[in-house]
Parts: sequence; structure tokens; C-alpha cells
Amino acid sequence: MDEKLRKRIQDRKHDGSLRVLTQNQSEIDFFSNDYLGLAKEKFPGSSIQGGSSGSRLLSGNSVAAIECEHRLAKFFDADSALLFNSGYDANLGFISAVAQRGDFILYDEYVHASIRDGIRLSNAKAYSFKHNDCDDLKRQLKGINGTVYIIVESLYSMDGDMAPMRSIQALSNDFGAYLIVDEAHACGVYGDEGRGIIHAREMQNEVFCRIVTFGKAYGFHGATILCSKELKEYLINFSRPFIYSTALPAESYVSIIQRVNYKSIRERQIKLHKNIEEFRKGITNYTFLSEVNAPIQVLEFDEKKALMRLVDKMLKVGIYTKPILPPTVPTGSYRIRLCIHSFNSREEIDLLKACLT
Ligand SMILES: Cc1ncc(COP(=O)(O)O)c(C=O)c1O
Repeated sequence: MDEKLRKRIQDRKHDGSLRVLTQNQSEIDFFSNDYLGLAKEKFPGSSIQGGSSGSRLLSGNSVAAIECEHRLAKFFDADSALLFNSGYDANLGFISAVAQRGDFILYDEYVHASIRDGIRLSNAKAYSFKHNDCDDLKRQLKGINGTVYIIVESLYSMDGDMAPMRSIQALSNDFGAYLIVDEAHACGVYGDEGRGIIHAREMQNEVFCRIVTFGKAYGFHGATILCSKELKEYLINFSRPFIYSTALPAESYVSIIQRVNYKSIRERQIKLHKNIEEFRKGITNYTFLSEVNAPIQVLEFDEKKALMRLVDKMLKVGIYTKPILPPTVPTGSYRIRLCIHSFNSREEIDLLKACLT
């Protein structure tokens, strides 16, 4: 961890203002924000329990949250895990807390909006490098003197392509930068039992942190940052979305662990990858944006008319998609983004392919 961050923690320890996660042990509540007692109320007909009644640093901590972090760290082979209410919160809260004035951030030009917003809220100078272009990243690293954070996604959500993780990590290492990897679309889908691309490449000890979200392949909500114990302590103290927002209800943490450890995840992974292969096979008259067999498959068009014709044709057989038009994509580029699932039947895939022939 950068010395500047270490010093901020030390200063807190010295002046007795360090924030630590504790648990409410008392029966009598003069502490939570549950003013009307509705967090504890059982509502007939609803299986959903009440809220957490406060932030993790106040009344919102729970055995379930602590246990969930412990199990996530173990599963993803990380020193520690810190839960956030969403992937958006995790990226925003991590980047804005860690990157300091005088630091530099180099980020792939296609990173998600939550990363961009985190960058905006930080006081660091930030520059984008061309998508997946290690030469451009290297050129920019050469021109920088100071603490550098490199931010990428292992699988890109709008293009369905993967970052050249080994080359990026090697550059990060050569230039002494800190590498941050958003695995929102990779975890669950890639790696042993869904541990993600970084774990599959045995790079978990070579990155500064990983961001895993539970709203994509895990079909739920929430997110975790996988990092060192020291970095976790820093985030508990300085990451504002963690400090100043009501925690998830305890049952969310139970649900997260159930999904991550779901016994059929391997089976579903295999089915998904089969479906992706089946979908791509034999399609010659359309251009795929990426060669990667990812659940996100993007088709590119030179003209809007051809794209809209296909969208209409698909709709007529019951397949709903949204065209992706500029400014979401560069001017002159038109796309369809298709998400392939493990549960899509052979008939559904054949129907989709029939639209493309
Ligand atoms: C790469 C990436 N990171 C983070 C997020 C935000 O995750 P969440 O939906 O859990 O806020 C998204 C959501 O689309 C994403 O695509």
C-alpha cells in the first residue's frame, strides 16, 4: 500500500480516531436508526426480513456480514474482503478514497461509469489509455513520476472482450504501479467454480485489488472488494459509501454466500460456455466485435438501417434487444449486444441464429 495511505491510518491510530467494525452486543437499542421498529417487524406474506438499521460502523454490522466477508476472502483466495452495497458503490468508494492529490490514475478508455465517477471524486490526475492497448499504457507510464493506479476490467461489459491481463500486470510491476481489476462480468462465469479471470490466471497475489459484484452472474446485488487486510482497514476508515450508507440487510449476506458457493455453478458454467460456442458457430454474414467466447456477444454494423432491420426481425420472433447507437458507441458505429445464458434452450439459440442468416 502507498505510504501516504499508511500514514493516514497511522495518524488516526495516534489521535485515537481509528474506525473499527464492532458489533452491537446490547439488548437495549438507543443506537440504531430503526425509529419505528420496522427493521424487526415481521410482515405477513413477505419472506423478506427487515433492514440493517444503520451503517456497518454503527448499528448495521452483523455476524452474517462478518462471516460473509470471511468466506468470500477464503473462496476468492484473498487476504480479506470488504462488502459494499453495490458494484457502483465499491468502485466509487474505492477509487475516490485511495487515489490522493498528486497521484496518477491510468484507466482503460472503456471502463464502467462507476470507475469514472470514482476517478472524478478523487483528487488524482487521471488519463485514459487506448482500449486494451499495452503500448499506449506503457507510453503513458513512462511519462509519469509518482504513485500510479492502473484500472481495468478483466472482461469488458459493452464489448465482451478481455483485457490482456498478463501484459498489463507485467507493465504495472515494471513501473511499480498499483493494479485495480473490476471483475464484475467475469466472476461466476470464468475460473474454477467462478473465481474469475484473475484467479484462473493465478494472478490474485499480483494485483492491488479485485472488485467482484453480485448483481451479474450471481443474480443478486451487492459487491465486494478483495484486497489486503491493511487496505481493508484503510477503506473502513476513508471510503465514504462504506462509512455513510445503511448496510445491506443480514439476509443479503447469507444469500450472497449461497450463490457464490452454489453447488451447480460448475454445471451452469459448462452449459453457458456450450451455448456461447453453439451460438457463434457458423455465423458468417455478421461481424462479431470480439473473438472471445464470452456471455456478452456484440455484433457490429456499418449502417443504422441494417441494425434496425435485424432488431425488428428479432422482435417479430419474440427476441427483444436494444440497438446500441452513438453516442454510447463511437460515431458511425452501430451494434447489438446479446447476452447468452446457461438457461437458453437449444431451440432459443436456433431461433436467434435463424434471424442472423
Ligand atoms: C464493469 C462494471 N463494474 C461495476 C458495475 C456496477 O455494479 P452494480 O450494478 O452492482 O452497481 C457494473 C454494472 O453494470 C459494471 O458493468
